[in-house]
Amino acid sequence: MIFTGSHILSIAQFDRADIQRIFEVADAMAPYALRRRVTRVLEGAILGNMFFEPSTRTRISFGCAFNLLGGEVRETTGFESSAITKGESLYDTARVLSGFSDVICMRHPQEGSVAEFADASRVPVLNGGDGANEHPSQALLDLYTIRKELASKGREIDGLRIALIGDLKYGRTVHSLCKLLCLFNNIHITLVSPVELAMPGSIIEQMREAGHTVVVTDDLAQSISSVDIAYSTRIQEERFATKEEADLYRGRFRLNQAIYTEYCEPNTVIMHPLPRDSRAGANELDNDLNQNPNLAIFRQADNGVLVRMALFALVLDVVDQVDQCSREVNWYNSLRTL
Ligand code: CP
Repeated sequence: MIFTGSHILSIAQFDRADIQRIFEVADAMAPYALRRRVTRVLEGAILGNMFFEPSTRTRISFGCAFNLLGGEVRETTGFESSAITKGESLYDTARVLSGFSDVICMRHPQEGSVAEFADASRVPVLNGGDGANEHPSQALLDLYTIRKELASKGREIDGLRIALIGDLKYGRTVHSLCKLLCLFNNIHITLVSPVELAMPGSIIEQMREAGHTVVVTDDLAQSISSVDIAYSTRIQEERFATKEEADLYRGRFRLNQAIYTEYCEPNTVIMHPLPRDSRAGANELDNDLNQNPNLAIFRQADNGVLVRMALFALVLDVVDQVDQCSREVNWYNSLRTL
């Protein structure tokens, strides 16, 4: 794809060469994400960060990524602080805010809403999650993390064995990740969920058409016994009609250290897009895994900054100028690693 000036709305936009390019640029962002160097390449540019659903990682890491490239961030969070509550359309909102911004990140509860907004925008729009549909930057950072974790074991993404666990019906991160894995070869995917929260059939079909092996099960122990990655997800309570309905599934597939020790191969990597639900009735990824060196969830979040820096640099066409506009920092946090 041509990145310059493009919206980033769906994994369907990318081919394998695009992913390679994003990851190369993300790797090159490490000195800046680690605060060893500072670049002002986007000095004077403004990111409009519009999050109409709760977010910690996506909103703040998009913002940090833009700041680390030298740009400034203006935010709207929640419908209640936006004129959309007064009846303003997405079209008008997009026309107005794209006049104030050089690029926009947006999260919205309705599927397709970010694409609708992008149609009216005068600047590139990056999808920070649209309902249960897609979360492309999360899938990119997930795959970037998988690539790094496998590389440390001398492995590549082709041939990956992965179990996706939990709410696969409403979990947009796993929808985007499955679509992304379709660009690779010989993937073995085990989908572990209650039958009511199964992965949409169209995505399973897409993975099978890509030549991947797809196993659908509700047996957690067996599914994690021969995988490289165990990727857990939260029950997406906000997509259910009632909290009581979500409660039926919460805590159904709990991964903790005892289960990991009993069933997983040594060094199986544990991932989760976060937030994990750490309330007593849920705990899909137990806190007793926190000291497990194979728990990659916080490395995943850190990698999000690199990948989002790469997306901004590519879309705003400044990749070749990042280093030219850089200098060493005047201070150094020796504890920061990636
Ligand atoms: N992974 C993710 O999207 O997290 P947030 O909801 O905190 O942005």
